[in-house]
Amino acid sequence: MNRRKGSFTLVAAAAILAAFLFAAFALPAQQAPAVPRMVPDNPLHPAPPAQPIPFSHKKHLGFGLQCQKCHTNPDPGALMTFPATGTCMSCHAAIAKNKPAILKLAEFAKSQKPVPWVRIYAVLPGVTWSHRPHLRAGMKCEMCHGPVAQMEAMAETTSVKTMFSCLDCHQKNNAKTVCDACHKN
Ligand code: HEC
Ligand code: HEC
Ligand code: HEC
Ligand code: HEC
Ligand code: HEC
Repeated sequence: MNRRKGSFTLVAAAAILAAFLFAAFALPAQQAPAVPRMVPDNPLHPAPPAQPIPFSHKKHLGFGLQCQKCHTNPDPGALMTFPATGTCMSCHAAIAKNKPAILKLAEFAKSQKPVPWVRIYAVLPGVTWSHRPHLRAGMKCEMCHGPVAQMEAMAETTSVKTMFSCLDCHQKNNAKTVCDACHKN
């Protein structure tokens, strides 16, 4: 890469980052106090799976990004989304664009294929689950997924998908504990 092109990339990257940091600091919610944990740690401490691209929550949340920038809860509300490759490319078209991981990301973007992320959390099929009533009731992401902003690589660090964890939190929050709230035949 010649020097002029290199410094242009740097300037472009700095401008994007500056614009974005400005937006982040305009949001006081970022300084919110630590969220209490509601579910126990996963006693198995599973290692993070190898992902197609080594995405770091710690790094990206350190820039002040909000969960909702990448994970939304569209109707009917059961699932959270994964970010469109275009969301990543809004920065990475310029930032770190010659790094191997970003070249790979750009390939996914170009082919318009979603990145095949390896899934971390999944409840047993057949159990009634939806994010929506939890988010409505004011439950925070970190209550169930742990301190995501400190995670270099995402792993199943909490035991949220066990029946004990569901029931324990339901008891503490006066939510339903009858069997058919979660098991329908
Ligand atoms: C810049 C985009 C981005 C932001 C911001 C972000 N995430 Fe993610 N998240 C991802 C990507 C990409 C994956 C898939 C790769 C992985 O698991 O690390 C993911 C995976 C996850 C998973 C694992 C899902 C599963 O079961 O496979 C959880 C849980 C999660 N994010 C929670 C959060 C929370 C909570 C926040 C805010 C504190 C957050 N994320 C902010 C991009 C983001
Ligand atoms: C708001 C801007 C922004 C968004 C959106 C964003 N990133 Fe980043 N990302 C950065 C910055 C800044 C760095 C640090 C670059 C550096 O250290 O040179 C980075 C670093 C990375 C790296 C490490 C590159 C390396 O090898 O040094 C990877 C991989 C990465 N991002 C993937 C992603 C993925 C995947 C997404 C979408 C889910 C995403 N990023 C969304 C700004 C962003
Ligand atoms: C009450 C606990 C709880 C809360 C609160 C919660 N999650 Fe989840 N999350 C789960 C469970 C359980 C799963 C596995 C669901 C499944 O099998 O699809 C999951 C799965 C996910 C996934 C993978 C996609 C999916 O929906 O299966 C992402 C991404 C995610 N959560 C992000 C978030 C974010 C971001 C927040 C905050 C806005 C959040 N979660 C709040 C328990 C929770
Ligand atoms: C962090 C605490 C917490 C955890 C963990 C949790 N829940 Fe909940 N759940 C709640 C609260 C609070 C509500 C909403 C109660 C209300 O709106 O009256 C709720 C509501 C629900 C509902 C809707 C019930 C209804 O019909 O109104 C279902 C279904 C549900 N949870 C299933 C689960 C499952 C399955 C798990 C485990 C995989 C789980 N929850 C884990 C706190 C939690
Ligand atoms: C708040 C949600 C919730 C309630 C209420 C609940 N369960 Fe569960 N149950 C789950 C989840 C989540 C799993 C899956 C656990 C896992 O994957 O480790 C499960 C698993 C089970 C299993 C094992 C199923 C299998 O195929 O391995 C049985 C049996 C069971 N529950 C019975 C009950 C009975 C009986 C009640 C009423 C006393 C009840 N459950 C109430 C969430 C719930």
